[in-house]
Amino acid sequence: MDDPSPIRPFEILFDRAEPSPIADEAYAPYGNFGFPAAPAGRPWIYSNFVQSLDGITTLLGKHGSGGEISQSREDRWLMDLLRAHADGILTGMNTLLEEQRSRGPESRGIVFQVADPKLRELRKRLGKGRERNIFVTRATDLDLSRYKVFDGDMVDAAVVTSPAGAARLRAQGSHPHVAIVAAGEGESFNLPLAVQKLREELGVQYLLCEGGPTLYGSLARADLVDEKFMTVSPIEVGQAVPPEQERLPTEQNISPLLRPTVFGGPGFTRDNLTRWTWLSSRKVGDHQFNRYRRKRR
Ligand SMILES: NC(=O)c1ccc[n+]([C@@H]2O[C@H](COP(=O)([O-])OP(=O)(O)OC[C@H]3O[C@@H](n4cnc5c(N)ncnc54)[C@H](OP(=O)(O)O)[C@@H]3O)[C@@H](O)[C@H]2O)c1
Repeated sequence: MDDPSPIRPFEILFDRAEPSPIADEAYAPYGNFGFPAAPAGRPWIYSNFVQSLDGITTLLGKHGSGGEISQSREDRWLMDLLRAHADGILTGMNTLLEEQRSRGPESRGIVFQVADPKLRELRKRLGKGRERNIFVTRATDLDLSRYKVFDGDMVDAAVVTSPAGAARLRAQGSHPHVAIVAAGEGESFNLPLAVQKLREELGVQYLLCEGGPTLYGSLARADLVDEKFMTVSPIEVGQAVPPEQERLPTEQNISPLLRPTVFGGPGFTRDNLTRWTWLSSRKVGDHQFNRYRRKRR
């Protein structure tokens, strides 16, 4: 059952971010929370991840969700604060599949939404519209009716995909209310063009990337991440799945089975690695809440 007691306040170690867009009591537990203006032609893209002390984002197996790494009500609240400011939440398709899979075969997955009533009210006072969930997928065999997020009654939903993926989804004919954004050529998908289209076609100015590592890695390689919100959970889990952990059918026969960090897929060399300014830091108990902004000059 959800704990009804208030969350603990965040202790501000330092904060160099912009002032909050409005003066509002809802910011009280966290303090100042602002963004710069969005760039022309694409959204301001900020990510949110929680990792263990050793940099791991999922245990894999039966306890694969980010919440199992976080183990913090304040981290869940901060996720809501970030969602309250977003015109869209962008996730890779596996993150939705994992949430659905962990709830059992009858589940139709989850909807990524602001849960805290005070932060839902803040969102309204910020003038933000209906919440929007956006999924990145090649849509090779995605059946939209399998997931409640596409029903259209709770949030607006969108899919960004290749032109071939878009054609497959449109051919389903069942979900005209789901925005399908096609970027690329044939089966190939163009992520930089996709985020430009989110701005042009759906008016997304502030885009929150909630993972997973595969999507984050491809955004980072395209240098599309402007800010990172990074919670460090005071647990150590190790990268290789230990022999005593039960494996899912999809995890069998992989040796070693490695838990991902925030950054999936190919990374950088010493010559093209990216640099970041440490913008703010807070703590609650033994959890660290850091914010980094991309240094582009
Ligand atoms: N700790 C945290 O904060 C946190 C946050 C989020 C997720 N997670 C965990 O991370 C795990 C999921 O991460 P993941 O890396 O496996 O998956 P993911 O990034 O959520 O999704 C990967 C899928 O998204 C699509 N995709 C992503 N980037 C793409 C690109 N550039 N081009 C085309 N398609 C692209 C593809 O979908 P198709 O295969 O459909 O084509 C790909 O298979 C879960 O266990 C989840 O719980 C943890």
